[in-house]
This record gives sequence, C-alpha cells and structure tokens, in this order.
Amino acid sequence: MTIPDQGLPLSRRETWKTLLAHRTAITPLTLASLFADDPFRADHMNASGAGLFFDYSKNRITKGTLELLLALARECHLPDRIEQMFSGEKINPTENRAVLHVALRSSRDDVFRVDGTNVVPEVHAVLDRMFVFARKIRSGDWRGQTGLPIRNVINIGIGGSDLGPVMAYEALRHYSRRDMNFRFVSNIDPTDFHEATRDLDPAETLFIVSSKTFTTLETMTNAQTARKWLQNALGAGAVEKHFVAVSTNTDAVRAFGINPENMFGFWDWVGGRYSMDSAIGLSTLLAVGEEHFQSLLEGFREMDHHFRLTPLEKNLPVLHGLLCVWEGTFLGSATRGVFPYDQYLKRFPAYLQQLTMESNGKHTSLDGTRVDYETGPVFWGEPGTNGQHSFYQLIHQGTRIIPSDLIGFLHPLHPTGPHHDILIANLFAQSEALAFGRTEADLQKQGVPPALIPHRICEGNRPTNVLLAEQLTPHTLGTLIAFYEHSVFTQGILWNIDSFDQWGVELGKILAQKILPELTGDPEPPLEHDSSTNALIKRYREARLS
Ligand code: F6P
Repeated sequence: MTIPDQGLPLSRRETWKTLLAHRTAITPLTLASLFADDPFRADHMNASGAGLFFDYSKNRITKGTLELLLALARECHLPDRIEQMFSGEKINPTENRAVLHVALRSSRDDVFRVDGTNVVPEVHAVLDRMFVFARKIRSGDWRGQTGLPIRNVINIGIGGSDLGPVMAYEALRHYSRRDMNFRFVSNIDPTDFHEATRDLDPAETLFIVSSKTFTTLETMTNAQTARKWLQNALGAGAVEKHFVAVSTNTDAVRAFGINPENMFGFWDWVGGRYSMDSAIGLSTLLAVGEEHFQSLLEGFREMDHHFRLTPLEKNLPVLHGLLCVWEGTFLGSATRGVFPYDQYLKRFPAYLQQLTMESNGKHTSLDGTRVDYETGPVFWGEPGTNGQHSFYQLIHQGTRIIPSDLIGFLHPLHPTGPHHDILIANLFAQSEALAFGRTEADLQKQGVPPALIPHRICEGNRPTNVLLAEQLTPHTLGTLIAFYEHSVFTQGILWNIDSFDQWGVELGKILAQKILPELTGDPEPPLEHDSSTNALIKRYREARLS
C-alpha cells in the first residue's frame, strides 16, 4: 500500500496546532451561548443521506471548528484513503490485507478488485448458495437426521462471528420467523451452551459454526461440545445434517467433520468485526429470509455510496468521525455513549463496542511510532428510555463530559397508544436537557429552596448527536451499521492508525493457553508468573481438588 505522504507527524502539523488553540478559544463557549448567538444553528448543522438524518448542532463546535477538522481530514488525505479502501488496496498494513467489506454488499455488476481479481462474482456465488440453503431450511425441505425439519438454529461464534449475528437477530426480530428459535453461543462458560440447548430437541437443531479462522478456542470448544450433544442423541452420522460452517479455513472445517459442501466461505479481506454481512450473517438470513437480507445489504450499499461520493462537509460518517475526534482527542472525552431509543436495538451498543474499540483502540501510528494524542474512546450504551433511569444521572450532573449519540425512528413497528410518542419525547428531551441544563435562575423562579438549588442545577453543555430514520427496517439497519463502520474508518485515518488489526487481543489468548495446563496438570507444574497470578492459580487448583 502507498500511504499518502503524511509529512509531519499529526501533532506537529499547523492545522493540529490551530485546532489546539481553537480549543482554548472555544472552551468558554457553551451550547447555550452558541445557540443564543446563532438561533438557526440547527438548520446548518445537520446532514442527511441514505435515509438517515443527522443533527450535530448540539456539539461544542463552531463553524470554524468544523472547517478546521475538515482541513485536517484533507491534510490526512481522507478522500484518497477512502478511495484506497474501495479500490482494494492493502490498507491494513500490519496484516498486509485489503479491507473490502464494502464488496460484501456490492451489486452483481459492481467491480471490486483484490490483487487484480474482481471479487464480486465470488461474493455473489456465496450469497447464492446461502439463499438456496436458507430456502431449504425455511421451507422444511432440509431434514435432520430423523427426518424432522429444522426449528432451532444455534450460531456458535465469538467476537465478530457472534456480535453481528446476535445484534442483527435482535434488531430484526420483527421480521423474523417466529416459529423458529434462534440462539447464539459465544462464551466458553458452559452456562452459555447449557442455556441455549437445555430445552431443544437435537433432531430439530442446526448448528452454524461461525469462525473466520476456525481455530478460536472458545468457538472450537463450544462446537465440540455441540457435536457431542448432538451425537449422543442422534448418533455419529448426524453431523452432516445438523452442522454447517462459516469460515475462511476449509481444511479445519473438514478436519472438524463438517462437509465442505456445507461450508459458506468468506475472505481474509473481511475483518471479523466487519463481517456480519458476509456468510457470517447466515443466521440472520435464516431468521429473516432472502428478501429482507437483500434489503439489509442494500441499506449498507446506500451508505457506502454516500460515503464514497458525498463531499466531506455533507458526508454523514465523515462528520460523525470528525466530531468523535474533536470530542475525544481535542476536548478529552474518554467515552462516548450510544443510546438507541428502540428496544430492538438493545444489542447495538455491544456490537458497536467491538466495531469501534477493536478498530481504534490503538497506540501506534502507521509509521510505527507511539501516538502522542488520544485515540479511540470507550463506547458503551443501553437503549433509551431504560438508561435514563440508571446512568443518565452521571451524564447530566457528573463531573465528566460524556458525548453521546441518540438514535430514534419516526415510525414505530408496534403502534400502541401513546408509547412511541412518549419514547421520542424522551429522546428529544434528553438531547435538550443535556445541552441546556437547568440554571439557578430557572430554579429560583420555580421557588426551589435555596439550600437545594446547587443540588438541582444541571450545568448542561453535554454534547449529543441525534440520528433519526423513518423506521427500523432491514434497510435502515444496514445504513446505520455502515454509517458507524465508515465513521470508525474516518477516525482511524485522522489518527493515522491501523483500524483493521487487533494485535492487542493476542497476549491474553497466549497467556490463557499457558495457564490452562497449570490449572489442571498433575503433578503441579512450576509456576513462574507474578505472585498474584501464582496465588490465584493455586487457589483454583485447591478448589478443583476439594
Ligand atoms: O478476539 C479477536 C478476534 O480475532 C476478533 O477480531 C474476531 O472477531 C474474533 O476473535 C473471532 O474470530 P474467529 O471468527 O476467527 O473465530
């Protein structure tokens, strides 16, 4: 990959220094004063695209802030870097890989090349096989070992091979087959497998073993347990009709005992956390069917086009990404909340945690030096309005500023009395309350006793983005996910880091492999860890023997 010449390190650039100076200038301003100075601020601080409306007026920015951030984005060659991604260049240098999840939702006549080969035909060949398989399962043509149709689907996977499928299943439950059970086993804790299978008949159950590498310890251990559970009930030959695999590793799939004809492939240019619209989405497809799955892919594609073709200043993911950099790096907010006002999106924050934090939790810039600025913030969240009765107190009156994204839909999926109006009134109220707070004068006017006034003041000036879409549909879900994918990309480009590797998770995996035999070995192996780890291992060994 040719990384466009970055010139000076980021923090020594003039635009960077200007942004730092600008931060000092802007600190005394509040959202209240910014709105007072420009009552029509909301009219120009919003953007629309791919069916999403993005109001970013309640950020601690001026027009000048945005201009500087856009200048920095151009200096970082963001438009070229976007083009590099779409052109299949190896923009993940530490793994020497292209990053082409956008090809997963291509239309048949698109062209996306990796090493000179157009990958679109392969993508559609896998999709076509998935559609055929889904038709067989959903129609009952595919029979299990005893001749019964499949009623239960269990996805076994972890990280990107779990979070996307489980989030999408929950998000699209309204569109799913209600006469089938969809469950997800990820944790190595045997409770996960036990609870997922305890009331199921193996004869009606299909396991999808989802693992890009097909070596992940948790997934392979859970898959072995599943195989045993199935074979105990139905005999050794049952794997053929009750196991399929989603992976890039055909040899390992075969070695496990799954017929490669029942394997759905993907490619090393799809990162785990960017894979939910690859074959990793098989459980989603089985749940919602071909038409809805296609519409999910179209939603992704629409946002991809928007991201690729829209000028930076009107580009939703770019604007969002720049605001994340502004809040996190320049204004020092260590976390970002994401609060979907839709119960179906209850797993969306968990999904975004992997997408954002595995991507941008990096301290090394592309040239190998340690960055001297803050990179990816902690992402977290819960659906509204539940969060309001739990942690919002800290956002309103705590000592830390937590910028947040509030996501809502204009039309409910289940119109029921006043529910949806109340839901959306709360979303808008939170955005307003967080921005403008409640002043001493307001409280005096309300006759609040003077001693209580300091406790009831809300300082405001807490930034929020509001994202609105028409309705939660498969299409909308696709656009929303692509919006965050491309925002993450934008942030990574500004920070000059590799958003597509995840070396940090390796160390814990290696140490777990070392500790495992130390917990169970007989005789007790010599322990060479620190005193804390040694003592914990001994305590566990004693409990295990008692
Ligand atoms: O733990 C890191 C990770 O590599 C993730 O990036 C990935 O999504 C997950 O493990 C699962 O990996 P696999 O799909 O290969 O089992």
